Amino acid sequence: MLGSGGREHALAWKIAQSNKCEKLYIAPGNAGTSDCGENIAMKADDFEAIKQFVAEKRVDMVVVGPEDPLVKGIYDDLKNDPRTKDVPVIGPSKAGAVLEGSKDFAKGFMQRHNIPTARYQTFDGEHLEEGLRFLETLEAPYVLKADGLCAGKGVLILPTLEEARKELKEMLGGMFGTASAQVVIEEFLSGIECSVFVLTDGQHYKILPEAKDYKRIGEHDTGLNTGGMGSVTPVPFATKEWMQKVEDRIIRPTVEGLAAEHIDYKGFIFFGLINVKGEPMVIEYNCRMGDPETESVMLRLKSDIVDLFEGVAEGNLDQRTIEFDPRSAVCVMMVSGGYPQAYQKGYPITGIDQVKGSIVFHSGTAMKDGQVVTAGGRVIAVSSYGKDKAEALQKSFEEAQKIQFTDKYFRRDIGADL
Ligand code: AMP
Ligand code: GLY
Repeated sequence: MLGSGGREHALAWKIAQSNKCEKLYIAPGNAGTSDCGENIAMKADDFEAIKQFVAEKRVDMVVVGPEDPLVKGIYDDLKNDPRTKDVPVIGPSKAGAVLEGSKDFAKGFMQRHNIPTARYQTFDGEHLEEGLRFLETLEAPYVLKADGLCAGKGVLILPTLEEARKELKEMLGGMFGTASAQVVIEEFLSGIECSVFVLTDGQHYKILPEAKDYKRIGEHDTGLNTGGMGSVTPVPFATKEWMQKVEDRIIRPTVEGLAAEHIDYKGFIFFGLINVKGEPMVIEYNCRMGDPETESVMLRLKSDIVDLFEGVAEGNLDQRTIEFDPRSAVCVMMVSGGYPQAYQKGYPITGIDQVKGSIVFHSGTAMKDGQVVTAGGRVIAVSSYGKDKAEALQKSFEEAQKIQFTDKYFRRDIGADL
């Protein structure tokens, strides 16, 4: 398993429960993942070290957590090396990861396959004037997206035409380096967002429980954007009928579109959707699971995830079963004071062992002199089951109070708006 965040801890927790898993390595992992397997001090994008390790330890399967190694082509790199060519990778090829790595590619793909998404056009620095004219055909607010990966910071939503014009000039002028050499300008969609996850072997797919994440730092969705302050599953508006529309109009055309374009895709697809007056539309694709959605979704996956991964590797995912826990699950993310702006690291964390009714996933933690310490903005996810989301939230809230570190902060309203 590659990666080091809460998503990876939740995946490692689920993988470790499988009786098909004899030994799990996590690279690099964090202070929590070592409860599920053996942490290996190796960066998730150090392909040479990873290949050597996989060959030496005769690793049977590589599960990739974050987008970065996928967009850089870890799948292809392992396939193209005689030492590791037969080792299944859960994660798409570089060509597939472009669904996340290039917003312009994703928009073009959706257009080619008639997948509902916001109207758009893409411009580069040589077509600034055309870009400015396109802005005038849209209504406020204006959505500008850097084409490439920007660690979640590449999307700007501007309230006035004047600001949109100014930002477009800056983006095309190199505001996000090469990532904004091209900018997608699109129509603003109004609605509630929902994350839908699919595991595919390139031909068949299984739909995982959907979730909603909470990106703003403050309660009632106020303040700055973060990597995610919590998540809830299921999402009430994602009814059977709505999910059927998602499957028919979005999921199936995506999986079939990838196959039709000969794109090798064996892994997770994350559909960032928005519910526009009852109709699902795609905001974005990601080529991996969501964080912090995974920290609630994994609680509801009853089936053996390694069995599903085997289905992906062998191309017979249709013959595997997927079952969900009907209960709700809520994840509350505890973060460092100051996050998402400047914050301190290295504070000791205590009380984790006091948590009894919830599952604790580490996001940004490390071991220092035998003590678990904070090592990131998002520090610890507290995930709980409940008969409904209110009960699950209450549980996470109670248990989160037992965990202590200097300047800790978390939202108490995850799922409350739904
Ligand atoms: P993305 O990185 O594409 O997920 O965009 C980040 C966030 O910007 C999304 O989660 C949405 O909240 C918002 N967003 C992106 N595109 C649109 C759009 N066309 N209309 C409204 N909100 C959007
Ligand atoms: N929770 C959103 C993401 O993982 O990108």
